[in-house]
Amino acid sequence: MFRIGKEEELAVARTLQSRQFFKINDAGREVYHFEEEWSRTVGSQYTLLMTSGYAALESALVALGIGPGDEVIVPAYTYIATALAVVGAGAIPVITDIDETMTLSPEAVEKNISGHTKAIIPVHIMGLPSNMDAIMRIAKKHGIAVVEDACQSDGGMYHGRYLGSIGDAGAFSFNIFKVITSGESTSAR
Ligand SMILES: Cc1ncc(COP(=O)(O)O)c(C=O)c1O
Repeated sequence: MFRIGKEEELAVARTLQSRQFFKINDAGREVYHFEEEWSRTVGSQYTLLMTSGYAALESALVALGIGPGDEVIVPAYTYIATALAVVGAGAIPVITDIDETMTLSPEAVEKNISGHTKAIIPVHIMGLPSNMDAIMRIAKKHGIAVVEDACQSDGGMYHGRYLGSIGDAGAFSFNIFKVITSGESTSAR
């Protein structure tokens, strides 16, 4: 299932030999290297490695000041972690229709925006990009944030830009089923 080559073997050996694989007290250089490399690769300002894509989504929402009483638009077709991250932040997921792209319908998003809406989470499902041009336009018009759930599309692109680097924040996953697997997920930007 996984393609693991010499480069990965050497990286694991290097990390073990360094005895610095925890990201505390400024140790764990490989972690920092990865964050810097990921930022450079996807074109995001910051990258923070976390325990999971779920944690990345929830942290991004909390960092944007989203909490109790706020509504966040999520697509009807996604993995449950998208909506759970909204609940984890204390906010209310507003389940919104998808269209033939299998991703959020911009028309349905517009219809579901209320005075409580604070963010939209487009999910780039199975590597299929959401209509980011339309979603960013709607978000700007209403002054709300966009948190991209790029957990199923590590390395995917939309009009020449990496998915997960277009909105205010993006979450990626490197779990066992994902395009890149490592055991950790990352929140970028
Ligand atoms: C669309 C989507 N969002 C979020 C997640 C959560 O990622 P993780 O399993 O790394 O927490 C997943 C994982 O399957 C996912 O498919």
